[in-house]
Amino acid sequence: MRVLFLVLPCLLGHVAAIYNPVTEYAGDAFFDKFAYYGNVDNTTWGNVTFLNQADATVQQLTFVNGAGNAIIKVDNTTTLTAGAPGVAVNRNSVRLTSLDSYGMGSLIIIDALHIPFGCSVWPSFWTVGIETEWPLSGEIDIIEAINDMNNNQVALHTVQGCAQQVLTPPAQTGHTVGTDCSVPEGCLVTESQPNSYGPGFAAAGGGVYALQMEVSGICLRPNVPPNIQSATTSTPIDTSTWGLPTAAYPAGASCNVTQFFPPQNLVLLTTLCGVWAGVPSIYTSTCHTPTGDCFTDNVLGNGSNYADAYWEIRYIRTYLSSSAVPSGAPSPTAGSPTAGDTTTVITSTVVKTGLPTVAPPASSAGTRRVWAPVWLLALVGSLLFFML
Ligand SMILES: *[C@@H]1O[C@H](CO)[C@@H](O)[C@H](O)[C@H]1NC(C)=O
Ligand SMILES: *[C@@H]1O[C@H](CO)[C@@H](O)[C@H](O)[C@H]1NC(C)=O
Ligand SMILES: *[C@@H]1O[C@H](CO)[C@@H](O)[C@H](O)[C@H]1NC(C)=O
Ligand SMILES: *[C@@H]1O[C@H](CO)[C@@H](O)[C@H](O)[C@H]1NC(C)=O
Ligand SMILES: *[C@@H]1O[C@H](CO)[C@@H](O)[C@H](O)[C@H]1NC(C)=O
Repeated sequence: MRVLFLVLPCLLGHVAAIYNPVTEYAGDAFFDKFAYYGNVDNTTWGNVTFLNQADATVQQLTFVNGAGNAIIKVDNTTTLTAGAPGVAVNRNSVRLTSLDSYGMGSLIIIDALHIPFGCSVWPSFWTVGIETEWPLSGEIDIIEAINDMNNNQVALHTVQGCAQQVLTPPAQTGHTVGTDCSVPEGCLVTESQPNSYGPGFAAAGGGVYALQMEVSGICLRPNVPPNIQSATTSTPIDTSTWGLPTAAYPAGASCNVTQFFPPQNLVLLTTLCGVWAGVPSIYTSTCHTPTGDCFTDNVLGNGSNYADAYWEIRYIRTYLSSSAVPSGAPSPTAGSPTAGDTTTVITSTVVKTGLPTVAPPASSAGTRRVWAPVWLLALVGSLLFFML
């Protein structure tokens, strides 16, 4: 039984709730609409190398399976042994960035059957504005968890000046951990449903996350409203019948979302250990392995422990509100890298939940996410941003 919850309407206000299809990422065309990072994880410092498209394809880390679903996985067949002191040993993985970007008025839906999980595993599906250095153009974390966590969490990241307004009665089902979106962990909301991530999500047959970005606010939510289950690639989506989101970030005096979230590109990746999952105190809080060291107990060895470190995605679909102003339309935007653009490098600093107590590696310059020259990829789906 796939995850399905019905609750009260997410929103708030007068925004037209009809969204028309824009792009679908699915099947054989899925990977054509994303750029592969093709570099080591030099932003969250996991012990992985994110392959380029040619290598990822040859090594079968990205492919379309027999059911027609996109698989994005961590290498689980190569045996890695410890190198000489100081020599990096990385396992291969994949990081994708959408070629297109999406502005206000967008609805992004991801239908996944499986999200990577397990000790050392750190998957994420998120958006980031690439027009300026992170976090000037914002970041929205739709799906993110680590190790043996059994629930998803979402967050916005911005520069100072944007906070989540918590409404009474609550406009969301999740738990707000902090409201200031400019602190290292962002304005974080945790999902309580055990089927929102990990074995619970997989056992439920997966589920849907949606992100709704409106000038009136941003909403993220899991679960599958009936009209999504029956939707085809050409079906407009009416969000007015959907229930409460996991996380609601109403626009207003506390945050002008239009200002803090220019068009966003979609990012999907899986890293291992690194500055969140690999922090000893965080790692050992849910993983109890022989040495207690994330790298030694997981990344080394024959990889058989990574049989669950894969995304299986039925589709990612993007929509545009029928009332969106033309300037909010998905681009390729003027500032977006395009195929053949080899000079655009966007640097972003990302600090994950739980990180503040731990200094990142000195060389990371504050935990930076850097976008190497890439084509941008398209999207993701576990959360709905409703902008009110
Ligand atoms: C694994 O990653 C950590 C964090 O970046 C790093 O300190 C360590 O040297 C890496 N280990 C190897 C063997 O590459
Ligand atoms: C919100 O930001 C946008 C873009 O910077 C700006 O055009 C608009 O006037 C701002 N709205 C308010 C209420 O300040
Ligand atoms: C891989 O390593 C694990 C743990 O060390 C072991 O249990 C398993 O038998 C190995 N698998 C293969 C195919 O060698
Ligand atoms: C590797 O992972 C896949 C799932 O992605 C699984 O089907 C396969 O059995 C795993 N292989 C090994 C050797 O564990
Ligand atoms: C990450 O790697 C890319 C590509 O080599 C490089 O352009 C970028 O400067 C690196 N970022 C950091 C923080 O080292």
